[in-house]
Amino acid sequence: MAFKHKHLLGIQALTPSEIITVLDTAESFYEISTREVKKVPILRGKTIINLFFEPSTRTRSSFELAAKRLSADIVNFNQQTSSAVKGESLKDTILTLEAMNPDAIIIRHSCSGVPHFTTTFCQSHIINAGDGSHEHPTQALLDAFTIRQEKKNFKDLKVTIVGDILHSRVARSNIFLLRKLGARVVLVGPPPLLPLEMKKFGVDIGFNLDRALEGADVIMMLRIQMERQQKNFFPSIREYRNLYSLTEKRFRRAKKKAIIMHPGPINRGVEISADMADSAKSVILKQVENGIAVRMAVLYLLLGGKKREAFA
Ligand code: CP
Repeated sequence: MAFKHKHLLGIQALTPSEIITVLDTAESFYEISTREVKKVPILRGKTIINLFFEPSTRTRSSFELAAKRLSADIVNFNQQTSSAVKGESLKDTILTLEAMNPDAIIIRHSCSGVPHFTTTFCQSHIINAGDGSHEHPTQALLDAFTIRQEKKNFKDLKVTIVGDILHSRVARSNIFLLRKLGARVVLVGPPPLLPLEMKKFGVDIGFNLDRALEGADVIMMLRIQMERQQKNFFPSIREYRNLYSLTEKRFRRAKKKAIIMHPGPINRGVEISADMADSAKSVILKQVENGIAVRMAVLYLLLGGKKREAFA
């Protein structure tokens, strides 16, 4: 099996063939979620902890469903009802949960580097479910799975990523992944939210959305991450909408068969019009559906299991 990692901390550490292995494995798991009985015994006996220190709808629930569909036991940790509110430190919280002998810990945290830090004192497999502005590897993998479903391959695709690039772990993971698989990536957004140093990752940078959309195959819209902004990066939401919102008129600049993606949660009427979010060109809910197959693949590749038997 061409996937030798103990942890999934980011896309940066993966080779193109490891990325393809995850996508191919996800492909084989996709069908399980369409069965009447959506369960196989591949990870029976394994225990997984979903450790989320930041809010989540998609990532947490799809990791939970992925684990359950593989027959693993999963425990959801809720920071607000945990002893963290009594002052227990991050390290003590993780050590306490690790003492219960889980096989894997899935971590989301507002600080970049927490999943990496956790690997220095934990024996479990660690999966990054989003760390600060750093990486969100399973989001990029499910985005790639969705792009491959729609476009077949990545070479020579033009992917335009729009919005708050500076604070976006989704953008960073997608940039690493898409460049590794040979896509052309164009970043566009307001200058304060689009660091020029991103050019070192082999992307093109622009500040004019209309121009960046010309000939795009994939348009990836991003949410403005107010929770990570300590100062005002643009004068007003109205101005942001005028310059960077995806509307039907703007969409016409992209290729006829272009698709619209968004990792969610979306701000309707801010970065994307409601019409565009709900249009036939939007694959936003497909991304959510694909997240389960991709997370099943990640859990399987890291924790092992007897897949052949399970499918028999
Ligand atoms: N895309 C994403 O990470 O969404 P959630 O914050 O709802 O998990």
